[in-house]
Amino acid sequence: MSRITVQALSPALGAEVSGMDLREPINRQTFLEIEQAWHQHLVLRFRGQRLSDPQLLALSRQFGELDPPGPNPYGKPFLADFPEINVISNVKVAGQPIGNLGDGEASWHCDMTYVERPPRAALLHALELPDGGSDTYWSNMYLAYETLPAGLKQRIAGRRAIHDASYNSAGMLRKGMKEISDPREAPGAHHPLVVRHPDTGRLALFLGRRRNSYIVGLDLLDSEALLDALWAHATRSEFAFRQQWQLHDLILWDNRCTLHRRDAFDGNARRIMHRTQIKGDAVIAGA
Ligand code: SIN
Repeated sequence: MSRITVQALSPALGAEVSGMDLREPINRQTFLEIEQAWHQHLVLRFRGQRLSDPQLLALSRQFGELDPPGPNPYGKPFLADFPEINVISNVKVAGQPIGNLGDGEASWHCDMTYVERPPRAALLHALELPDGGSDTYWSNMYLAYETLPAGLKQRIAGRRAIHDASYNSAGMLRKGMKEISDPREAPGAHHPLVVRHPDTGRLALFLGRRRNSYIVGLDLLDSEALLDALWAHATRSEFAFRQQWQLHDLILWDNRCTLHRRDAFDGNARRIMHRTQIKGDAVIAGA
């Protein structure tokens, strides 16, 4: 038996895992317990983990093959020595951003769903934090699907949506992308709106991000109205967990059945997070 404890953080999702030093390799028994907790709670928080970048990479690799970050607005990795790590930060050095997303709100999204095989998981490590604000929220897309009114379930059954690749969650155009005014022309993967989770078999709403989304085959106005209704439902507060960061928190989340967003924070404060992602499988249509 391992010595870890798992405690739920909200009724919808999120759990705190205690009793681990993530700098050490995870033994088989403990790994299975973490995996089970992850499938049950979707987002796991490990407090007090002082990880160097190589340690973050070694930890991440225990969950699968690393998926490099998607293109950022500046066109090159933030860490030349560790290109698999994405830096989420508002800090500038000599006028140049050291990371992505700035200090504004990052709107609800899941990561890199504009590719055919989006990452299955992500790990986010808090290295520098403002005194307040900058909370991050995750929302449970199993619950969102299960509680969706029957009429909406019927309207999205068998339908796919475009997951736009042009803009990041802070509304910045990615390097090499053109501005898009008609969502029907947005570049990016077309994924089912309802997916089956490859590990748990449960059905989840799979929305990606709202900007430039379009439900294939619908009139544009109908698509906009249906997407607005789905997003209003999926982001209801009772499906969410709010993460109030402490230094050296490490969060591991399931990117296939959650959305996340971040609050804006004081632009004069410094916030630095390092993030990795784990490669995912092909998306499975659920309904
Ligand atoms: C993100 O991965 O979208 C950023 C989350 C955060 O900055 O807390």
